[in-house]
Amino acid sequence: MEKREQERPRVVLGVSGGIAAYKACELLRQFTESGHDVRVVPTAASLHFVGEATWAALSGNPAATEVWESVHEVPHVRIGQHADLVVVAPATADLLAKAAHGLADDLLTNTLLTARCPVVFAPAMHTEMWENPATQENVATLRRRGAIVVEPAVGRLTGVDTGKGRFPDPVEIFQLCRRVLARGAKGLPQDLAGRHVVVSAGGTREPLDPVRYLGNRSSGKQGYALARTAAARGARVTLVAGNSELPDPAGVDVIHVGTAGQLRESVLKAAADADAVVMAAAVADFRPAVYAPGKIKKQEGQEPEPVTLVRNPDILAELSADRARPGQLVVGFAAETDDVLANGRAKLARKGCDLLVVNEVGEHKAFGSAENEAVILATDGTETPVPYGPKEALADTLWDLVAPRLAEPPAADRGNP
Ligand SMILES: Cc1cc2nc3c(=O)[nH]c(=O)nc-3n(C[C@H](O)[C@H](O)[C@H](O)COP(=O)(O)O)c2cc1C
Repeated sequence: MEKREQERPRVVLGVSGGIAAYKACELLRQFTESGHDVRVVPTAASLHFVGEATWAALSGNPAATEVWESVHEVPHVRIGQHADLVVVAPATADLLAKAAHGLADDLLTNTLLTARCPVVFAPAMHTEMWENPATQENVATLRRRGAIVVEPAVGRLTGVDTGKGRFPDPVEIFQLCRRVLARGAKGLPQDLAGRHVVVSAGGTREPLDPVRYLGNRSSGKQGYALARTAAARGARVTLVAGNSELPDPAGVDVIHVGTAGQLRESVLKAAADADAVVMAAAVADFRPAVYAPGKIKKQEGQEPEPVTLVRNPDILAELSADRARPGQLVVGFAAETDDVLANGRAKLARKGCDLLVVNEVGEHKAFGSAENEAVILATDGTETPVPYGPKEALADTLWDLVAPRLAEPPAADRGNP
């Protein structure tokens, strides 16, 4: 049965004049097919790429560009005021600049000024435009004011170039918007807006020779869930991903790494301007002492050489002891197979982090599963049990504990350490 009009979440889909405008048709379909009432507000430039008729037909609503149409309904104020979510996809460099400076010369920019709901921008442009300090400052301004600006993807751009600036997968943007709407429907704030969080995920692999490695069973699902949920709460997210089969989450800066050493280097670099670092990756404690540059071969009549292991650096202890910024929050994960809580409490004290998520792992527990169960230990002595459920629920409970503990003002407003 179709939902009654007033129960359907109201979404404004702003479309600005980028080559990726055609991908917004897929985003629109995702919204309409899942029962959202969508009002498309294209800019005049975007109509060079996708025409008004497409938006009106696909949304079932008028798709005006200027404030001068249907003036008796005062659309320049009403559309923004009544929205549950405004998502601008694609957002051009020009649109980001106008939004950051409060310009209001068409229906979309007026709507952005009147909206009181969460606003998501999905920028797409050439790498040079994205990296230009003007664009970066506009993005920082919008984030500071609470908007969610998703990081563009890296990949093929218009023509033959590749780089950062690609429009993320529309289905992934839709999933992000759904999470934002779900928080809004519960009256929950974008409590990580303006924050930079670093999350590590997946397992590391320590090579023995060019074809063999020592690895672990981590799937990356918990870390990826942390990255997705933080983005939906408004954070700029850097995901340092060890080996994982999972697709890159939309709107998150993903750095792929292989070994514990590479993970350490990327996490420390990203942590330099982070408000919080969450180490959910399963990082190898040891690596082979010797790396054989050629494949280790069977020798007739000889037993294989034993593998000698050496310790890897303890990244969590290092991050905790040597905070990149005063007030930076550090969160660890402890995967234990026995004496779970006692080992977790000891680890929290030993590592010096602020929060520790302790969970029991085993061949069929936690690793690879979409669900998890844990206890989150804090240095103030509080212990928060998280019942068995989706890894996204655990991720949100962790952010609930992280958000009120973050230092003020956000790292981005404090300049260099
Ligand atoms: C073929 C073509 C592709 C373009 N693609 C983009 C783009 O992907 N991102 C962007 O920021 N601007 C792009 N532009 C430039 C914008 O269309 C231009 O800045 C325009 O003024 C944006 O207007 P609007 O922000 O009101 O939609 C493109 C222009 C052309 C001609």
